[in-house]
Formats: sequence, C-alpha cells, structure tokens
Amino acid sequence: MAPRFPWRPLLAGLIALLLLGAPASALAAFTLPPLPYPVEALEPAIDATTMTLHHDRHHGAYVANLNAQFAANPELARLSLDALQGQISRFPDAVRNNGGGHWNHSQFWAMMAPAGQGGAASPALLTAIEASFGSLEAMQERFNQTAAARFGSGWAWLIRRADGSLAISSTANQDNPLMDLPGIERGTPLLGLDVWEHAYYLSYQNRRPDYIKAWWSLINWDTVNRRFDDAGGASKPAD
Ligand SMILES: [Fe+2]
Repeated sequence: MAPRFPWRPLLAGLIALLLLGAPASALAAFTLPPLPYPVEALEPAIDATTMTLHHDRHHGAYVANLNAQFAANPELARLSLDALQGQISRFPDAVRNNGGGHWNHSQFWAMMAPAGQGGAASPALLTAIEASFGSLEAMQERFNQTAAARFGSGWAWLIRRADGSLAISSTANQDNPLMDLPGIERGTPLLGLDVWEHAYYLSYQNRRPDYIKAWWSLINWDTVNRRFDDAGGASKPAD
C-alpha cells in the first residue's frame, strides 16, 4: 500500500507557522481612514492639493511607520489606537510620534466639515464654554493665540478636563492631551488644530494666523458636541 500523504502534520505545520512564525509586522492592524469628504470639499479654507498631500502622504506615512514598529513592539497588537495614547510613555519615540500622528490626524479629519455643513455648538457645550471662558468668542480668541504661539510644529486643543471644565492647551510635534507624558495637560480633546506647516503652507506660506482664522469656518460642531457628550458633558465625577 502506498504511504498516505502526510496531511495532518503538514496542516499542523502551516497553522504553527501562521500563529507563531509569522513576522510581527504581519499582525499590523492600523489603517489609514478615508477622508469623510472629497479633497476639494474644504476649499477655499484648505486647498485640495494640501488635503491630498496631508492625508495620503503625511497621515499615510504615520500609519506605515507605526505599523513598522510592530516587530520591535509586539504589544502594540493588543492595544487600540485610543488605548495606546494613554500608555505612550511605555513606548519608544517612533511609536509616540507615529502613533500620535495617526490618532491626531484621524480626529482632525472628523472634526472638520465643508463650510456651512458642520452644524453649531450644542446648548450644553455652549454653556460649558461660557462657564470656562466667558463666551464662545473668548474661547476662540484664546485658542487662536495658543495655536499661533506654538513654536515649530504641533497642535492646539480644546479639551474637557476630568472635572468637566474646558481648557485650551497645546502640544508639540504629534503629542496630544491623552498621552501620559510629563508637561501635557491631560483631558479629552474636543477640537484640535494641526499647525504643522504641512497643514497650510501651500496656501498660506508663513501666515499661520490666516489659516487658523479660516479653519473656524470648517468646524464640524456635530462631532465636537458628540465628543463632549461622550466624555461626560458638563457633569462632574462623583466624589
Ligand atoms: Fe498634519
């Protein structure tokens, strides 16, 4: 009788290879989300070429470079992008920079909408803004000053603190307010503005304040309202 083909050990070997022998990078789970609107939808405030380069090249590179870190940091496979931010101090700078870049840009696209399509601040959010800043205009003025004053590359944020109050903050490079790093004011980002030159230089060159002013026409307040509600709204945690 001819010997039987060794299907069973062959199959076991293949499974072992898949589970144990695959390179860690093959487990990479982070993907570049598509823009929620066409690249020209934010014109004239942000031009289509900037959006294409910013999303496809810059954000795309953060995702690719983060996925390239799986081999050296296999625990990445067990973390969501959100969870990673709060544990970023455990990881090397390449994860901090690219993981932050992926999170920041993913939120940034969703925080914007074509002019006139982003709704308005909800009564609950407006009340919280007035309690912390006096008025919506005063919050915007402080935000603008903070965004303009960020030296070099970084982000400006409107955050909800754990006690329900709101604050304006800024982070360098691709850091964000979720990160467990010294010098960062922690809170839930409700609104974030990318002030890296790659975000505005083609249209505005060195006129960052003009970019900041134009950006306010693009706010997706429906997203900001939902983020505020999801973070607990104006309620304070129980003592
Ligand atoms: Fe950017």
